Amino acid sequence: MTSIDKLIENTIRPDVRALASYHVPDATGYIKLDAMENPYELPEALRSELAGRLSAAVLNRYPVPSYSTLKQRLCERLGVPAGHDVILGNGSDELIQIMATAVAQPGKRTVIMAPVPAFVMFARSAQYAGAEFVGVPLRPDFTLDKPAMLAAIAEHRPALLFLAYPNNPTGNLFDPADMAEIIAALGETGIAVVDEAYEPFAQSSFMARLPEFPNLVVMRTLSKLGLAGIRLGYMSAAPALLAQFDKVRPPYNVNVLSQIAAEFALDHLEVLDEQAARIRAARAEFARELARLPGVEVFPSAANFLLVRVPDSDHACARLAANRVLAKNMSKMHPLLANCIRVTVSTPDENAAFLNALATSLTTP
Ligand SMILES: Cc1ncc(COP(=O)(O)O)c(C=O)c1O
Repeated sequence: MTSIDKLIENTIRPDVRALASYHVPDATGYIKLDAMENPYELPEALRSELAGRLSAAVLNRYPVPSYSTLKQRLCERLGVPAGHDVILGNGSDELIQIMATAVAQPGKRTVIMAPVPAFVMFARSAQYAGAEFVGVPLRPDFTLDKPAMLAAIAEHRPALLFLAYPNNPTGNLFDPADMAEIIAALGETGIAVVDEAYEPFAQSSFMARLPEFPNLVVMRTLSKLGLAGIRLGYMSAAPALLAQFDKVRPPYNVNVLSQIAAEFALDHLEVLDEQAARIRAARAEFARELARLPGVEVFPSAANFLLVRVPDSDHACARLAANRVLAKNMSKMHPLLANCIRVTVSTPDENAAFLNALATSLTTP
């Protein structure tokens, strides 16, 4: 054993040593349909205008940590109800981590719960924070198993429960009445986080219902709307609850360049909204075409991706990669996802490239 191996064994937590790192494949030369990104860039004229604003950024000073202008703009433009504020994260990934850190109590069992299969960072952030993650399986049609969720809440009393709306990787919207019952069942013992990362494609939201539930957090991101590169997530809740989370937030977690780019994008929200509308229209067409392929099942999606079941997902993904198309093989993530592939809805050309490569994979050994 080398001295660095000994150092690692003596210092790094065993569960961290046992983890595989979050793998992001190199997409150079590939059509990238594995990360639910918006394929459209900002129009050239807007990019030039943004460059002007960025050139005025004050880079030698720390950001102003209240982020008040950006927060106010977010609240105005994205429907945060009166009396509710937001806090910002370096992507919603960071907000998930902040909430997990704030609830996990050293030396005491803390449970963080989500229906599964779910976004992987829910379980990972729970583990990093030292909490226990409890996943409650969805039904095979990916709807919420409400009785199982209510029983698990009664048994484990989770401090935090995530409901992604729509859900990743399944793409569907859970029944809002079921969700409301689950949020109410948590009552004063648990915080419910409705993760609306894909809201621009679902156009259905719990944001306006925040005043109904004191234990509700609604979390969103600018990533899927078209700004994945700037890393900006936000969450809204009762101000007293946000104030607690804010204590755990690193003070300068959003950099000035992201802040300026986000404010700029919010001034031109109609451009991003139009791109989302194009993606929603393409999703319907893409789903119809995919469903025509023999042996392919397409699950209903309210997100900017489709989950499809194929006869052999390992074979299909290998053939897709050979055709320089990158999609995500979900087969090993959860038994409910056997032979499932998740693919981003992209431009008509890129969707066609996926469709053709998948069709070829179905007929070639
Ligand atoms: C459900 C869900 N929540 C949150 C995120 C993370 O988003 P962000 O880019 O804001 O960290 C993702 C990313 O794929 C997601 O699928």
